Amino acid sequence: MKEGLSFVVTKPLDVQRIRDQFPVLHQQVNGKNLIYFDNAATTQKPKRVIDSLVGYYEGYNANIHRGIHTLAEKATKAFEETRRTAQLFIGARHLEEVIFTTGVTGGINLVASSYGRTFLKEGDEVIISGLEHHSNIVPWQIICDEKKAHLKVIPVTPAGELPLDEFKKLLSSRTKVVAVNHASNSLGTINPIREMIQLAHAKGAVVLIDGAQAAAHLEIDVQDLDCDFYCISAHKMYGPTGVGILYGKKELLEKMPPYMGGGEMIKNVTFEKTIYNDLPYKFEAGTPNIADVIAFREAIGFIQEIGKGTIGAHEHDLSQHATEKLSALPWLTLIGTSPRKVSLQSFIIEGIHPFDIGQMLDARGIAVRTGHHCTQPLMDGFGIEGTVRASFAVYNTKEEIDQLAESLARIINFMK
Ligand SMILES: Cc1ncc(COP(=O)(O)O)c(C=O)c1O
Repeated sequence: MKEGLSFVVTKPLDVQRIRDQFPVLHQQVNGKNLIYFDNAATTQKPKRVIDSLVGYYEGYNANIHRGIHTLAEKATKAFEETRRTAQLFIGARHLEEVIFTTGVTGGINLVASSYGRTFLKEGDEVIISGLEHHSNIVPWQIICDEKKAHLKVIPVTPAGELPLDEFKKLLSSRTKVVAVNHASNSLGTINPIREMIQLAHAKGAVVLIDGAQAAAHLEIDVQDLDCDFYCISAHKMYGPTGVGILYGKKELLEKMPPYMGGGEMIKNVTFEKTIYNDLPYKFEAGTPNIADVIAFREAIGFIQEIGKGTIGAHEHDLSQHATEKLSALPWLTLIGTSPRKVSLQSFIIEGIHPFDIGQMLDARGIAVRTGHHCTQPLMDGFGIEGTVRASFAVYNTKEEIDQLAESLARIINFMK
């Protein structure tokens, strides 16, 4: 886990051309040009995603699957095309292994509830890590409470990494589920999930990967990783909010009961008995978020046209630049110093509350996130209330990072 990162750059990146595709970036905030560094919370959306949303509502708004009229057929086709695009994007073997959800939170709750309720027994163990977002903690707490199972937590090193030795110590024949993130939203650490999946499988446990912070930055091949479940949120990868995908191995999804009941997830209903629909519809009860699923395809297209390698190399450059600039500032401490990180920097400044830093940066048009980033136990582990987090996307530039560093230098000067 000590080696650096490498990227296959497929073509040179024209950042200005990319920025031109994002209408929201071209505005002033508090009298300054907007610098958007809150990408780990949600990325901005390119015009093609916005146009796709408008195109659906203006051109062929209709409910899907059951309609036989032209608009319904067009909407159904567009909706299902996203499933096919998503399948290729994550390398799933079967189309029906791609389930539309509301996002990573929706995906994890589905698995914790459906898989957990069916397969966890009293005394079983679920392993998560100290780096998890609340949405990969609380659903497991709920199901462990209900089933009298135990939740075990992999500790985090001072650099913000997960030591495999500690993971191995927690694994046993009682381990039934391992749920960890591919990359940490608070610290950026890229976790050694390939090794973790192999170790967990050797004990017979299934593995869920929270890919919220990986999908826009890292190559994902679920077959190659051999994970059992993988969750993604569209809005963190240039797509719309309220949509995500849950990948699950077909043989597991087939054994799992529905998570929600309602329309679409049934084949036949009588008052005596309901026959459930086949995958993936068994897990897609009710009218889905049609417009956003359709527009999600454009977000995947946007990423694929640039290439993950090209995006990763640019963001890595930005992150390196930020490390140099920020660590040169007095009183500032970077939190999370693994050499293998996605493109974000978390930091604290001695004696200045993260919230105040966030407000002062906002006054200069710079959007960052402050607080515990939905990882309260992780912050507790570092003995801090929260951090300031600057997270970078393909449209960010080194000049913007220079402005962040200059603004922070002024804030430190003024406050100290
Ligand atoms: C690592 C991680 N997991 C889960 C989530 C939850 O994602 P969503 O709110 O899209 O369901 C987030 C969102 O910040 C995240 O960063």
